[in-house]
Amino acid sequence: MNIEKNHMNQKVVTVVGATGALGSKIVKALIDQNHHVRAMVRATSNRTKLRELGVTDFVIGDMMDPQSLPEALSKDPKSQAIVASAAGYTRHTKGDNSKTDAQGYRNLIDATKSAGIPRFVLISILECDKAIKVSHFYNKYLAEKYLQEKGQLFIALRAGAFLDQTRDFVLPGIQKGVFPTFVPGVSYGMIYTPDLARYAALAATSLPESELNASVDVGWDRPASGTVVAEAFSKVLGRKIVAKPAFPPFVSDVIFPLVGLAVGGISDMNEMIKWIKNGDYTSKNIQRQRELFGDLPTVEEAVRRYCKDRKLV
Ligand SMILES: NC(=O)c1ccc[n+]([C@@H]2O[C@H](COP(=O)([O-])OP(=O)(O)OC[C@H]3O[C@@H](n4cnc5c(N)ncnc54)[C@H](OP(=O)(O)O)[C@@H]3O)[C@@H](O)[C@H]2O)c1
Repeated sequence: MNIEKNHMNQKVVTVVGATGALGSKIVKALIDQNHHVRAMVRATSNRTKLRELGVTDFVIGDMMDPQSLPEALSKDPKSQAIVASAAGYTRHTKGDNSKTDAQGYRNLIDATKSAGIPRFVLISILECDKAIKVSHFYNKYLAEKYLQEKGQLFIALRAGAFLDQTRDFVLPGIQKGVFPTFVPGVSYGMIYTPDLARYAALAATSLPESELNASVDVGWDRPASGTVVAEAFSKVLGRKIVAKPAFPPFVSDVIFPLVGLAVGGISDMNEMIKWIKNGDYTSKNIQRQRELFGDLPTVEEAVRRYCKDRKLV
């Protein structure tokens, strides 16, 4: 079943983390699919980009302030779904930390359940249930588990690494002939965020209830190493692009483990690189994505769109 072909009525969808790199693309995807977006933002969030996208409906809510959530989530007309793309570990705002990814998500799930919002779309991470030592991965699994425990209808989209990272450090690399990657020789699951955003919008508005209460891997049709992605860039751009580690080996092998002893965020990054090196950061079931969202993007096709969107071709 390809839900994109189904008839869709306009829905009201609350997007949490709407100001973020992915969140703003989810907002755009929902608007493109003709739905009404309600952006839940913090009092301090910068709304400029959302206004430019056409968002006029804002509610104030902070996942770390549970008392702010009931009012934010009960505005009339009631949301038919919530898409949660927020994160603390990315430090989008100074002072954020991974408590948002643990306690903040529990607060948001509690408030969603109490408000009676019938669907929760969680942006999750590939193989998060197995990555026990990578706390920002494992927190996603804990959120999935909490959604189940609370009896909140949900779907978790377990994404691989973003081609266009949270802060797009790929673009300046490509301009210098380099594709920066965590581990050049190891294949792992990847996705281009406009695709993930489109899936999230469809999951929030069009996926039948019978498909909910599930975690679905999403990404390209196969895992890709940095070398394979660099080759795709070379082909699309018609010039040589080579894969290089985003961090020099001395930094990832010596500095990160040492600094990580004292700094939680670095320890998490270090564990993530180790986990990716395992080769386990891949989808074990691409069939489900195909059934729900249609044909999977290929590496070359996603790279071509990345280049086109940035006017590199
Ligand atoms: N990067 C990857 O490769 C990757 C792969 C798989 C999954 N993901 C997941 O993708 C999701 C989106 O990441 P991103 O790159 O879009 O992150 P991002 O750009 O850093 O955005 C984070 C968002 O969370 C919001 N936020 C933070 N703390 C909040 C709080 N206490 N209450 C309400 N909102 C809060 C921020 O709002 P403000 O504007 O107020 O700061 C911002 O909108 C994350 O959940 C991440 O785990 C990422």
